[in-house]
Amino acid sequence: MTQRTLVLLKPDAVRRGLIGEIIGRIEAKAGWTIAALELRTLGLETLEQHYGEHRGKPFYEPLMAFMSSGPVVALVVEGERVIEGVRQLAGPTDPIAAAPGSVRGDFGTIVRENLIHASDSEESAIRELKIFFPGLS
Ligand code: CMP
Repeated sequence: MTQRTLVLLKPDAVRRGLIGEIIGRIEAKAGWTIAALELRTLGLETLEQHYGEHRGKPFYEPLMAFMSSGPVVALVVEGERVIEGVRQLAGPTDPIAAAPGSVRGDFGTIVRENLIHASDSEESAIRELKIFFPGLS
């Protein structure tokens, strides 16, 4: 099943010089391709759309500050079961709970600064791709 997903390499990944490493892991998966890629500093309006479901949670305001603290790399990744696959490659939200071999398990320690976002379902992917890449056909 060919799918598309939105991936964000968060400001910590860009600051720490890990974008090549993470993109390399994505590119290495058989049949997956990068359909779009952009370095971009996110404004609050975009972040409110993206993280609307977390509004009101204790981590919401610090998350917004972190996500707007520097550029992210936004990617559209396309390929076989890519939604589940990138989530697996990223590891669980809490990097300490993430297994070695996953991006968060190998490079993360902090829940907020967990390096990578990947859409969690087909429905989220469609919604998030519209926010970040509205022109994509
Ligand atoms: P992500 O799953 O991409 O989307 C929601 C983000 O909120 C998550 O990554 C973390 O960056 C952040 N987040 C989720 N839960 C917490 C938490 N308990 N404390 C701090 N940040 C969190």
